[in-house]
Amino acid sequence: MKILALTGSPRKDGNTETVVKAIIAGAESKGTTVNYYDLSKLNISGCKACMYCKTNDGCAVKDDMLPLLEEVLTADAVILGSPVYMWQMTAQTKLFVDRLFALLNPDYTMKFKEGLPLVLVYTQGQPNINAFSGYFDMTAKMFEFLQFKVVNTLVCGNCRDKKDAEKNETVIAKAKEIGEYLTTIKR
Ligand SMILES: Cc1cc2nc3c(=O)[nH]c(=O)nc-3n(C[C@H](O)[C@H](O)[C@H](O)COP(=O)(O)O)c2cc1C
Repeated sequence: MKILALTGSPRKDGNTETVVKAIIAGAESKGTTVNYYDLSKLNISGCKACMYCKTNDGCAVKDDMLPLLEEVLTADAVILGSPVYMWQMTAQTKLFVDRLFALLNPDYTMKFKEGLPLVLVYTQGQPNINAFSGYFDMTAKMFEFLQFKVVNTLVCGNCRDKKDAEKNETVIAKAKEIGEYLTTIKR
């Protein structure tokens, strides 16, 4: 089994990385390999809408998204974490999400087997973890349309200082539990 983990925060060692790394620790404690990428360090352009991917495998934009497309195709589960910026995922995260278009077939199936387990992680300054639930729900629906199976949306509120998530024992414990759970999923 192989898990792909991605974070889209520009802040190194910030809250999003902390929560996602706790999920990774949970998975690794069960002997599973996790490939982790910091999206903010990669060179990923926006989708050019050239439609190359509708008649070819891969993507015409030759940047750091190409290995990530391969990673998604071969992953047994994916973890995607983003801070909330202006009520939504960060631009760095959205660039990755838009480029998943390259894995969408013209008949709206995906180039991977349906039901790829996905964990969504958000960290936010707002203490009320339900404040952006409309956006989180809609995003989960979008991923379900892309034939992911959203197994959890983990939200950590009250995160201003980059070390705040570390202090949220409930979220960190839940994150480890989710990581362990991912290793039990059969694909
Ligand atoms: C540009 C920007 C926009 C933000 N917008 C929101 C927001 O809309 N709602 C919110 O609760 N927090 C917002 N925040 C706070 C971050 O979501 C929060 O501090 C998060 O934990 C940062 O994650 P990181 O430590 O991984 O970078 C914003 C922060 C920045 C820098």
